[in-house]
Amino acid sequence: MPDQAERLRQLTLASAVRQRVVKQRKIPRVITVTSGKGGVGKTNLAVNLGIALSRLGQRVVVMDADLGLANVDIIMGIVPMHSLSDVVRGTKTLEEILISGPDGVKVIPGGSGLADLANLSYEQRDRLLDGLLSLETMAEIMLIDCSAGLSRTVLSFISAADEVIVITTPEPTAITDAYGIIKVVTKYKIHDRVSLVVNQVRDHREASEIAGRFADVSRKFLQVDVNFLGEICSDQQVVRAVKLQQPFITLFPRARATQDVESIAGRLLGLTLAKPRGVGEFLSKLSRLLEK
Ligand SMILES: Nc1ncnc2c1ncn2[C@@H]1O[C@H](COP(=O)(O)OP(=O)(O)OP(=O)(O)O)[C@@H](O)[C@H]1O
Ligand SMILES: [Mg+2]
Repeated sequence: MPDQAERLRQLTLASAVRQRVVKQRKIPRVITVTSGKGGVGKTNLAVNLGIALSRLGQRVVVMDADLGLANVDIIMGIVPMHSLSDVVRGTKTLEEILISGPDGVKVIPGGSGLADLANLSYEQRDRLLDGLLSLETMAEIMLIDCSAGLSRTVLSFISAADEVIVITTPEPTAITDAYGIIKVVTKYKIHDRVSLVVNQVRDHREASEIAGRFADVSRKFLQVDVNFLGEICSDQQVVRAVKLQQPFITLFPRARATQDVESIAGRLLGLTLAKPRGVGEFLSKLSRLLEK
């Protein structure tokens, strides 16, 4: 049996190790993926970008926060047995509902559990937030796949997160709606830096023209810098992968869309941003916003 001095030494050592682990642990970046118009590629971006980031050594959690049409699981070909509703009800812990996807990406099936986020009792909300708080130690990047448009819940997610990625296609309606999102986001001083991804383009030139015009208009009228994260080409392999219920990055490693998402992942990791606030801050802000 170790004597008192030895136990003390061990305790000090353990505490030093713990402190070092805490120091080294990165604060998770919480990133919402959103769009003005529906069907422009949010879920495909969140899922495939999550996998690309994981391959670059990040611990990634993708949260399905699309209230109406939760479909991260469909694109990943996974069948969740439980969702955040079970966490809210107190019948499951967050760890129990987390699903492991390709390349170690963890998925939170959230859809129906989040539908009544604004109407939860205090007890239910506490359970949900406590559960999500455990992600603080589990993830380095949390990607939130939101529904299109500007519902109160979507705005709360965008607002509480560290960063927002707005995705659009070259269609004028999608571009106008993306601008609408950025306008609201900046008007309410939610973020002063927004990233843009242009999906389903012919080539890089088309994307950078759109992004350039978008950035000019945003700077002139909204005084906001829109950071062009990159494009994803229109690629039939994406459509095929969706039909086969597999992420295109896994199924078609050499597809153009795969290379595009890999570039976006690299750029996202290279972005120097203000220090992320982490999941705890995200949740307390989200909770405050939903209470108003
Ligand atoms: N780069 C691409 N090339 C070709 N087709 C694409 C591409 N990206 C998306 N699509 C097509 O668009 C469809 C919608 O994509 P996705 O589900 O990711 O959009 P979403 O924005 O999440 O939609 P919703 O608003 O309904 O949640 C896909 O099923 C696919 O057919
Ligand atoms: Mg979607």
